[in-house]
Amino acid sequence: MNMLVNLLGWVDDRFPLTKMWKEHLSEYYAPKNFNFWYFFGSLALLVLVIQIVSGIWLTMSYKPDAEMAFGSVEYIMRDVDMGWLIRYIHSTGASAFFVVVYLHMFRGMMYGSYKKPRELIWVFGMLIYLCLMAEAFLGYLLPWGQMSYWGAQVIVNLFAAVPFGIGEPLSEWIRGDYVISDVTLNRFFAFHVIAVPFALAGLVVAHILALHEVGSNNPDGVEIKKNKDANGKPLDGIPFHPYYTVKDIVGVVVFLIIFSLILFFAPEGFGYFIEAPNFEPANPLKTPEHIAPVWYFTPFYAILRAVPSVAGSAFPGVVVMFASVLILFLLPWMDRSPVKSIRYRGLCFKVLLFLFVIDFFVLGFLGTKPTTDLYKLMAQIGTIYYFVYFFALMIIPRFEKTKPVPERVTG
Ligand code: HEM
Repeated sequence: MNMLVNLLGWVDDRFPLTKMWKEHLSEYYAPKNFNFWYFFGSLALLVLVIQIVSGIWLTMSYKPDAEMAFGSVEYIMRDVDMGWLIRYIHSTGASAFFVVVYLHMFRGMMYGSYKKPRELIWVFGMLIYLCLMAEAFLGYLLPWGQMSYWGAQVIVNLFAAVPFGIGEPLSEWIRGDYVISDVTLNRFFAFHVIAVPFALAGLVVAHILALHEVGSNNPDGVEIKKNKDANGKPLDGIPFHPYYTVKDIVGVVVFLIIFSLILFFAPEGFGYFIEAPNFEPANPLKTPEHIAPVWYFTPFYAILRAVPSVAGSAFPGVVVMFASVLILFLLPWMDRSPVKSIRYRGLCFKVLLFLFVIDFFVLGFLGTKPTTDLYKLMAQIGTIYYFVYFFALMIIPRFEKTKPVPERVTG
């Protein structure tokens, strides 16, 4: 024991280990009223670790080569010890990541966690979300199945819609070829295993540093730093460790139980996590009957298809789709209400947010389906409402009847 204390002292003289432990865990005061919605930040961290570890093990047997990629995944599934488990952890983990992150973002929207002084936490969060989308898109090409190939073909072709002669060379530059090919597979592999995970990890550190600089928001939207005791500790705060580390362990256990159930009983998510055509090797000469991205992209895919082409160009749809993701960055500045939490906001905000969630689900559903006239009309209405939500947040505070926000957290 003495030796350990001495060792710690030796390290502390050279590296701020105890200082960091205190600053970010044992003396980081978090509001005492965190609820269910506050599980998802730590769960996102857990899933990130799961994806990195399972990804490293997959890379040990995977071959990033158009001739061998599909076969190497089958080899992992059938011949590598526990390979099927590693592969399913990674493919189901991708969907779990988006479930957790969408719930985490929804919490922020409910409690106004993106508002001053937490705008940068949100902006870092959005950059993480962009990286996550890129990571999932790049990874989906790697098994070199029919949907991998044709999904990538469709998405990279979107860049070809950019006008002024930029589009074609841009999409060729991304692919490194005139069609998706071995060259594309190699570069997607490089970005998927090295570049994007690095960026993700760095952004997660920045996200948490920004959070710890200003302190966490909470379900009441009250700033706990405003009420401190004689020692300067927030009256409504409790140390993150041990209180929230223990609480988060409960979340981790429940998450792992649900994750395992899906992993062992429905690892392909009934065709939603790994789509059926992806069990056939990529065939550049045979387009699948219906190309759809994985569920977490389908709301944006529905928006893309909802916008009519102009003079045969899909460019307007591409712009609107990118805008639908990028507008989320502006949320901290578009929502003008001085009240953070949904608990004290007016009915109009509650209705708007509720409809936004329904809208996101409906768009998500429509994105999985082939277009018909009815579905296209629904997607157009859904797209309009998607943007209306953000602009309404700018306007409603003028007449919104909010409730008085308490001085202290209510528990
Ligand atoms: C890999 C993905 C992510 C990880 C590991 C992560 C991690 C965390 C952690 C550990 C917390 C503190 C615990 C909590 O409040 O739940 C947090 C808070 C927060 N995150 Fe994330 N996050 C991720 C993605 C995102 C995204 C995509 C957004 C939004 C675009 C976001 C927005 C926020 C906000 C606003 C807070 C402060 C919440 C509050 O204080 O009420 N995060 N994040």
